[in-house]
Amino acid sequence: EQPDAGGNTVRLLKINNFLYPPFSADVIEGVPDVEIREDDVIICAYPKAGTHWVWEIVRYLLAGKTSGVPLVEKDNCMIEWMPADRLRELPSPRVLNTHLLFRQLPRQAKQTRCKIIYVNRNPKDLAVSCYHHHRKLSEFYNYEGTWDDFLPLFLNGQLDYGSWFDYVKDWERAVQDNSDMPIHVTSYEELKQNPVEEIVRLAQFLGTSSALPAREFAARVEERCSFRSMKSRKGWFDMSNDGEPIMYRKGQVGDWKNWFSVVQNEAMDGYLKQYMSDSKTKFIYDL
Ligand code: A3P
Repeated sequence: EQPDAGGNTVRLLKINNFLYPPFSADVIEGVPDVEIREDDVIICAYPKAGTHWVWEIVRYLLAGKTSGVPLVEKDNCMIEWMPADRLRELPSPRVLNTHLLFRQLPRQAKQTRCKIIYVNRNPKDLAVSCYHHHRKLSEFYNYEGTWDDFLPLFLNGQLDYGSWFDYVKDWERAVQDNSDMPIHVTSYEELKQNPVEEIVRLAQFLGTSSALPAREFAARVEERCSFRSMKSRKGWFDMSNDGEPIMYRKGQVGDWKNWFSVVQNEAMDGYLKQYMSDSKTKFIYDL
């Protein structure tokens, strides 16, 4: 139980000094041995960076069509959540997803050289999204704190998957050190800014095609995966206690301005200066 500044606690799981959500320790410990197929695609992102969105886009790109694609729940394809035998049952090509670090991926991910998509999001919007995630899943995390009490947990890496700053630096290094691996980097903000171009870039990376010209198909995928469309397709698995969807909240760039006080913004900028000055990633805070 991790206490916040106001005395509320977040329920977490600690294994080998790394923080996880309160998932099954057996499943997490079995991750290194999970079987990976050559045609798997793994979406990697810190929580709330846009995993659902990119995961859905990739599913339609692989299908090469936007209708008649079965509704699947992203969490059924999550490496550290689903037991290995359930992952094995998924038909190929699988779109797996995880919030783990590169070095925590199943061993076979590196051996098979399956495709990896790494997704970034600016840490201010991400922290706000994380806060709502914890409140909406209050039973799971057993968390009842306020935004003011929550932000220090995010800044100090006291949440599942540890520090966002460490996560991003670790992935930057992994992308750089594994230039022989098929790893594609994209971001929430770029997808918002130039969705069709980014989807075309994703399709090129995946080597997918459809009966339509690339840009036309990308525009259809964008429409099918817009915030509004995805929210309208949400299932029972995505309802919080208040009847509001958990995973589809605002879907914007810059909502952080409605949440960060001047002091909190200065604190975040201080952390960015201290921990990210050697990072090459340019985060976009406004569109
Ligand atoms: P907000 O809380 O800022 O709205 P993840 O999928 O990694 O859990 O990320 C969730 C965040 O992505 C939430 O951000 C959610 O609203 C947003 N999101 C989900 N689907 C989206 C879509 N199709 N387009 C834009 N944002 C989306």
